[in-house]
Amino acid sequence: MNSNSIVGVLAILYRRTLNPSDPTDLSDPFAAVSLQDAEITAPVARCFALVPCAGSGSRAGTVMPKQYELIAGQSMVMHTLNALLSVSRLEKIVVVVSPTDSHVWPVETIRPIKCGGATRAESVFNGLTQLLAEGEKNPEGVQPSDWILVHDAARCLITDLEINRLIDACLDDEVGGLLALPLPDTLKVAVNGRISETLPRQDKWLAQTPQMFRAGALHAALLSKVSENFDGITDEASAMEMAGFAPKLVVGSPHNFKVTYPPDFVLAEDLLRSRA
Ligand code: CTP
Ligand code: MG
Repeated sequence: MNSNSIVGVLAILYRRTLNPSDPTDLSDPFAAVSLQDAEITAPVARCFALVPCAGSGSRAGTVMPKQYELIAGQSMVMHTLNALLSVSRLEKIVVVVSPTDSHVWPVETIRPIKCGGATRAESVFNGLTQLLAEGEKNPEGVQPSDWILVHDAARCLITDLEINRLIDACLDDEVGGLLALPLPDTLKVAVNGRISETLPRQDKWLAQTPQMFRAGALHAALLSKVSENFDGITDEASAMEMAGFAPKLVVGSPHNFKVTYPPDFVLAEDLLRSRA
């Protein structure tokens, strides 16, 4: 039985103990539900995507926020969203944009919410807070036990293959995880432009996105860092680590880099055109 099923079994047993007026209830609430029945009716945790898209792209040196720059014929973020849209296991895709954002979205299946914050962590936290609040009123919305895949708008070379690989690896995991790459190069520490130290690279990984965690657990991990202005939280995994969890590393692709500096746009354009 996977963790979803266990959650489902517990939820059913819990509901039954809470509902003595249920006419099918027996004096021993646990006797009424076999594990087999429970597995059939267990609510399966669903997967939602949340795309932080509220940055300014200061290192990119673009006039517009970098996520709206045209690359290979369409905005960077639309390449990102098209990859997410091609993954049928994602229930809904929500894009967190800045409150002052006036971008016009060409696809109805994309839902922008204008609650971006001053940092990436704050944008993710605000988005998740809104989604969970909506989920409290509507069971179709995000529930705390659902998975949320957070993916940078600026990683426009992600593919459905990699997203599905992450989902497959994490769906039955207790914690969840992230795409990442084992560090290929030697890692140096610099002081004033000169090397002061060489670090062992054997246990080092480069974190990418998507990062996939239970919505409730991720929200709680971020909430505990609000008073510190999310200091040190540069991705969802770091928030989960600080909350005491050990996220799973799932091998990503070198193509899934974050478009950050001007030369990255040229590389992204070449790679996207080569896929067409
Ligand atoms: N992001 C966000 N809200 C912020 C900052 C960043 O939603 N306040 C998003 C960006 O839009 C991007 C992703 O987080 O999709 C990764 O951030 P990064 O690549 O650092 O983008 P920017 O912060 O926009 O770029 P820079 O750091 O160069 O200013
Ligand atoms: Mg940034």
